[in-house]
Amino acid sequence: METGATAPVARSMHGDILVVTIDNPPVNALGVDVRRALVEAIDAADGDAAVAAVLLVGSGKTFIGGADIREFGKPPMTPFLPDVCNRIEACTKPVVAAIHGAALGGGLEIALSAHYRLALPAARLGLPEVQLGLLPGAGGTQRTPRLIGAAAALDLMLSGRHAGAAEAAKLGLVDRLVEGDDPVVAGLAYTRELLQMGARVRRTRDATALADADAQKTAIDAARAETAKKARGLFSPLKIVDAVQAAVELPFDDGLALERKLFMECLDSPQRAGLVHAFFAERETAKAPETRAAKPRPINSVGIVGGGTMGAGIAVAVLDAGLPVTMIERDDEALARGRKNVEKVYDGLVAKGRIKPEAKEAVMARWSGSTSYDALAQVDLVIEAVFEDMGVKHAVFAELDRVCKPGAVLATNTSYLDIDQIAAAISRPQDVVGLHFFSPANIMKLLEIVVPANVSSDVVATAFELAKKLRKVPVRAGVCDGFIGNRILAVYGQAAHAMMEDGASPYQIDKALRDFGYPMGPFQVSDLAGGDIGWATRKRRAATRDPRARYVQIADRLCERGWFGQKTGRGYYLYPDGARVGTPDPEVEAIIDAERARAGVTPRSFSDDEIVRRYLAAMINEGANVVHQKIALRPLDVDVTFVHGYGFPRYRGGPMKYADTVGLPKILADIREFANEDPIFWQPSPLLVELVEQGADFASLNK
Ligand code: 3HC
Ligand code: NAI
Repeated sequence: METGATAPVARSMHGDILVVTIDNPPVNALGVDVRRALVEAIDAADGDAAVAAVLLVGSGKTFIGGADIREFGKPPMTPFLPDVCNRIEACTKPVVAAIHGAALGGGLEIALSAHYRLALPAARLGLPEVQLGLLPGAGGTQRTPRLIGAAAALDLMLSGRHAGAAEAAKLGLVDRLVEGDDPVVAGLAYTRELLQMGARVRRTRDATALADADAQKTAIDAARAETAKKARGLFSPLKIVDAVQAAVELPFDDGLALERKLFMECLDSPQRAGLVHAFFAERETAKAPETRAAKPRPINSVGIVGGGTMGAGIAVAVLDAGLPVTMIERDDEALARGRKNVEKVYDGLVAKGRIKPEAKEAVMARWSGSTSYDALAQVDLVIEAVFEDMGVKHAVFAELDRVCKPGAVLATNTSYLDIDQIAAAISRPQDVVGLHFFSPANIMKLLEIVVPANVSSDVVATAFELAKKLRKVPVRAGVCDGFIGNRILAVYGQAAHAMMEDGASPYQIDKALRDFGYPMGPFQVSDLAGGDIGWATRKRRAATRDPRARYVQIADRLCERGWFGQKTGRGYYLYPDGARVGTPDPEVEAIIDAERARAGVTPRSFSDDEIVRRYLAAMINEGANVVHQKIALRPLDVDVTFVHGYGFPRYRGGPMKYADTVGLPKILADIREFANEDPIFWQPSPLLVELVEQGADFASLNK
């Protein structure tokens, strides 16, 4: 019987049980209307003698996906979520939550405010607020430890991971695990059983998992030490530890008050704004226009040409997605090496105990190899990952054109080469697309989907579908030298090299950028990737380089000595005895000094702040050019590229978001100031100038 409803929460009576269904697609987020309606539902239950108990369920796939992230940063509206949770917990009739899908953040906090909890097999429970720069702010930091102890609560809150139904039951987050997929059926059965047993309200605020004070203190000290080491500039993790400590030391209401204060501090932090931007931006990049306009072609098998660094990594990514792979190499020896490169990844997982040897065998059974292109006759999609040489690429595509079935998608993993030219040379340019993976391709999340002029929309849609299957973060890019990421990288790389020649050491530059939030500085990355790759690109571009442009030769001097980085034992740093972490090299410093003298540069000192300003200004300016020339659809596509492919600190949102945070007039003023020394390099992007003139920001172009 329907007893009244305030959308988006429905209420219906089932005997003496009031079923309260949250129905706010797509994920039942706790927007203000939902919060209001939940309070009304509980008030109604308390005031109605016909109601013996309340059952909370979510409609669709999700229980509740959390607070409404779109409300963050806007004026807060009552009722606040912590008050909604307190109201549920204070209900005088038993409240049961039946969780059949994601119960995350505020969603789990609602469930913890219920008196009994039930999970169905597809339930996923977690407190992922840390990933948005927040802490659980609706009682989660106080109720979770009281229910499952400080150690387990801290693990969930600091990692942000989701626990499955079985684990949630084991932890004590839920009281019962039940088969099935209908939360109303399972929830009603459980609630009836509770009523028959005479179950009473049971409030999590009174739960006793914190009774052993010594154990809690040990867990908190350990989490604090670990977090201080690992949080690397992040603001909210230590606040989480503080809040859980309050749960142990303070009465419930005082703990809640402290949690609220800490939550508001996190909410107001630029890190929260950066992380929320990243959350929405990476969902937005997956929706390229072609994915709306066309249906993807089916992909049930994949060919890969080349079994080197990238071909093998891509093969692992594809195999991990459950698809069969056919690898083509030049000869038997290269093919055996290609297979070994793939196996090595799985052997590593077996050695670490992450998978069983049988699992490796099962995956490798889906791998096949050949030296004949004819083996690709029936595959749905081919990814070419051979040497970065136009002649070799043309030869490979001619073979693909000859053997592949009509409609097969033909993709290239080229880093820089002109994909229009590759496509134009064969009879089916409409089937050719760029799939630019990043190394190691089985780990790095970014996939640039490069869209040549004549490709058909359904091929682009297929590429996005493949990204989803491979669990990659796709970004649509246009054709140009380096697409979005490598094109911008080349520019800010030059800024770093200019600073090195002008007086900053590579070690200072690396440190300044690590302090900014990068896991590694650019010279460490160069040593890791191998200096020979950039060297080859510079040689390729030498003929077309503007002869008036500044060209710093320090990297060439190192490469001429065979110092390519880690793989040769030295690059910008020394790696004695195969060390993974380098040490500064006085010989490199001497080479830099000699190059400064040769170029007639009198070295000057740089502050860390100036290093960051110059590096970022170069990145942002070229980012603006890339948007202006429609290589990237929007500034947010540049942001996602840099967060997922180039180590840009996620909590700063991406370079374009960071530029908005600093203020575009300031960035433009920096560029104009730097242009006094080198007007060829520091040319303000027309888009940046235009936005500053209009008083607008990059965010205005993301809509
Ligand atoms: N608020 C607002 N919108 C949300 C949202 C939320 N909490 N969670 C997801 N969405 C939106 C997405 O932006 C997307 O919108 P779009 O279709 O317009 O792009 C849509 O819902 C679907 O999201 P996904 O594509 O991510 O869908 P999936 O099915 O792959 O995943 C999910 C569903 C697991 C719920 C995933 O969306 C997710 O992890 N969401 C975030 C969960 C979260 O972080 N919750 C904590 C919020 S903070 C909080 O609760 C504070 C509290 O402690 C006070
Ligand atoms: P690699 O040198 O490790 O591997 C290339 C492989 O292609 C070799 O195993 C070689 O035997 C094989 N090969 C060459 N010609 C062939 C042919 N005609 N038929 C079949 N196989 C052939 O090179 P890597 O690094 O894997 O690069 C491959 C491509 O991926 C290049 O286009 C590169 O620009 C691009 N790329 C490289 C990245 C990196 O970080 N290494 C990142 C992203 C893209």
